[in-house]
Amino acid sequence: MIETLTEFAKDVRDGLSKDNKTLPSRYFYDEIGDDLFVKIMDTPEYYLTDSEMEIFTDRTDELVKLVNFDRKFDLIELGAGDGTKTIHLLKALPKSNFKYIPVDISSNALDLLSQRMKKAMPDLEIETRNLEYFSAIKTTESENPKLVLFLGSSLGNMLDDRAKEFLSQLAKCLRKGDKVLLGLDLKKSADIILPAYNDAQGFTREFNLNLLRRINEELEADFDLSKFEHQPVYDETKGIALSYLRSTEDQTVNISCLGCTFSFAEGEVIHTEISRKYDRPLVDQLIESTDLEIEAWITDSKEYFADIILEKH
Ligand code: AVJ
Repeated sequence: MIETLTEFAKDVRDGLSKDNKTLPSRYFYDEIGDDLFVKIMDTPEYYLTDSEMEIFTDRTDELVKLVNFDRKFDLIELGAGDGTKTIHLLKALPKSNFKYIPVDISSNALDLLSQRMKKAMPDLEIETRNLEYFSAIKTTESENPKLVLFLGSSLGNMLDDRAKEFLSQLAKCLRKGDKVLLGLDLKKSADIILPAYNDAQGFTREFNLNLLRRINEELEADFDLSKFEHQPVYDETKGIALSYLRSTEDQTVNISCLGCTFSFAEGEVIHTEISRKYDRPLVDQLIESTDLEIEAWITDSKEYFADIILEKH
């Protein structure tokens, strides 16, 4: 008998029980997945990182003018990762005018980031928060104004309704005058976007399949990884990249921890990820019912990516 199922087990059971099978993309990020994502970011096809990095290195002065406050502020970064982009901004801001507060649900990632930052910027005032995003912002109860960073098009993993909800919740955590620096990948042609989700070295493929490996390991399942293939799709009219795992034959998979089996027909897919691509009208729509307003919209030279500054009104 199954007594208590973890959140992961329940999500897997629910996702695989649907007519159109799905698995939530947040489960990509275990230790192996984190490592694969770093490798993806380093591939030549994954232009998102380079484009946003260009903004942080070539447009730093402009960014500083837009996000700096005339008094000490809290710079909160959601899902901070390894901080390689952020550091350019941190170095260009007037020292001692801000406290850097990276937030991540992985304490391991935060420890590494904190070590790296202290080494690169010994004077940096840093305070890590190993919490959910909104709890982290709410518990930052100082009188200081806030700048919230949410980079890398991480918002893109949410469907539009959830993204709207996320932004309005974020706005509710902020006071008038607080700012958000939001990094978003822009709509463009499929021949640029598709390779970013299907790199030649196969890291994205491995990243996607890692979900099944994780289910095997943590839920005692018997997915045969050689019988599923990575299938990225880009819907150019909607501006949405989708990732699937496609069953290459009729098969049955047993998940012991759930005490049940799931059948897959040849060609049947599991939807694992959406990566939303944005444009101005879409962003306007997403922030329409929040108190956030667009202050600036900065793109890289190819106009692949935008870092948008929002202000709470
Ligand atoms: C971290 C959500 C921005 O969707 O581009 C990269 C994750 N997935 N390759 C993205 C991802 C496959 C990435 N985000």
